[in-house]
Amino acid sequence: MATKNLFLLPGDGIGPEAMGEVKKLIAAMNDQMSAGFVTDEGLVGGSAYDAHGQAISDADMEKALAADAVLFGAVGGPKWDGVPYEVRPEAGLLRLRKDLELFANLRPAICYPALAASSSLKQEVVEGLDILIVRELTGGVYFGEPKQIIDLGNGQKRGIDTQVYDTFEIERISGVAFELARTRANKVCSMEKNNVMKSGVLWKEVVAQTHKASYADVELTHMLADAGGMQLVRWPKQFDVIVTDNLFGDMLSDVAAMLTGSLGMLPSASLGAPDARTGKRKALYEPVHGSAPDIAGKGIANPIAMIASFAMCLRYSFNMVAEADRLEKAIAAVLDEGYRTGDIMSEGKTEIGTAAMGDAIIAKFLA
Ligand code: NAD
Ligand code: IPM
Ligand code: MN
Repeated sequence: MATKNLFLLPGDGIGPEAMGEVKKLIAAMNDQMSAGFVTDEGLVGGSAYDAHGQAISDADMEKALAADAVLFGAVGGPKWDGVPYEVRPEAGLLRLRKDLELFANLRPAICYPALAASSSLKQEVVEGLDILIVRELTGGVYFGEPKQIIDLGNGQKRGIDTQVYDTFEIERISGVAFELARTRANKVCSMEKNNVMKSGVLWKEVVAQTHKASYADVELTHMLADAGGMQLVRWPKQFDVIVTDNLFGDMLSDVAAMLTGSLGMLPSASLGAPDARTGKRKALYEPVHGSAPDIAGKGIANPIAMIASFAMCLRYSFNMVAEADRLEKAIAAVLDEGYRTGDIMSEGKTEIGTAAMGDAIIAKFLA
């Protein structure tokens, strides 16, 4: 089997703990299935800053660019609160997204049957939930210029961020959303705020044009993003695919995470455009959650978001669809048996730590 080069960036806080379970899984797949994964590992976030004063080094960026896929844990934490803005831990992740041109962030929110009763929402609201948020990841207010704080000289300062979207950026992200909708329930809801933002007016217009030109078979609706947040909590099952910008996508996906029971459950894939010659996409896979400083180092973090991100890697980067399905089924089976990490714990279930959860999923996957 061909070599599959994975570059691992565990990062900070619970990042390395969650990544540890994926490393065990990769080793098991190499041993027992001759999967042919070759891994290399680098530093990102606060751990990279501590080592060399950068949130990610140029050498590690080169490795990320050369790999077939990057697996990313999490970055950040109070330890680095005072570091200069340019080298704060999160800057490493943003550089990866920008330099690898990972414009399409897929954040599926699936409520596993075993967790339907433990959601903070009513069981009937989340039971059977399977939605996909497609978040634009390399544009908008995250990267728009100017982005600065200026001194007005009168004792006042001005903080500026700029929301910018060009036609091609909206076309390509909506194209991804429409393509994915065709493999699912064939519905896309586009969210923006065209009642306040010029970029929202353009967003809605371009999504509608892209739809008309190439995807008229897909059902398209539009919603203001604030109302979208409300609808996500009121009746999330009305949605199939949601396509939205970088900042709205960040917030709406945290909301969607809680529909599944915990931030510790939500995986994501960040994809670039297919290479014109090889058809391969640059890709980075990461849980939606952060470094969870409050529980880091205790061995209690939920590794499911990280493991499910690896399932997405199998599916999207290596076309190992059967293995991806099996891994997702293994997660569901372990939950069905009543095993829970603390974040998804409920009465009558068995609480286990990060490593035990990883082991249980790997054992089911290999069985
Ligand atoms: P967070 O996601 O780290 O934590 C929010 C809450 O969810 C915490 O109570 C945490 O314990 C819990 N949680 C998160 N993941 C969990 C898991 N796998 N298992 C069990 N519980 C889990 O968000 P935050 O506290 O807002 O941010 C902490 C740091 O992480 C900040 O520095 C932030 O910038 C960074 N961050 C990084 C990423 C990333 O690396 N992709 C994403 C979000 C936040
Ligand atoms: C996420 C995170 C990141 C974001 C941060 C850590 C830069 O919140 O991936 O959701 O805002 O995109
Ligand atoms: Mn976020």
